[in-house]
Amino acid sequence: MQKIVFVCLGNICRSPLAEALFQHEIEQRGISHLFELDSCGTNGLHNGERADARTRKNALAHNIEVPSISRKITANDIQHFDLLLTMDDEVQSKVLSMCNSEEEKNKVILFRQFDPQAPNSEVPDPWYGGSEGFENVFQIVKENTEIWVNRLC
Ligand code: 4NP
Repeated sequence: MQKIVFVCLGNICRSPLAEALFQHEIEQRGISHLFELDSCGTNGLHNGERADARTRKNALAHNIEVPSISRKITANDIQHFDLLLTMDDEVQSKVLSMCNSEEEKNKVILFRQFDPQAPNSEVPDPWYGGSEGFENVFQIVKENTEIWVNRLC
């Protein structure tokens, strides 16, 4: 069982989508029993809220439901999960600052580390932009999800 948590700022746009797309991908491949997935955010500003309506609407247009409820990252997440996949540099720094050892730091990795188009780049935050930003994020997250599932299986 590989335990993976996706982490962004608000846990209402990027990381809930990554969780949903990863879940979909492993279900399609019949390997969902091999993974425990979750998502969370570093700022806690949207605790208890559903994912952003624009994120859910765009995903639904691709037949993907995004069911997660926003929560803030905890110290326990760092211990519990094998991989903490972060959506941008600010989130990466924040999560690294919560680590207590090199072993913990090694689990914190940029989600786009292996993106062939732009290795180690950020998943852009679509929160302030228009609907095209949400579709752009969807495509980036989908492509990188497939890369991760291929690497981990
Ligand atoms: P996310 O997007 O980190 O992808 O969930 C954001 C949503 C809300 C805020 C920031 C980022 N906010 O500050 O309210």
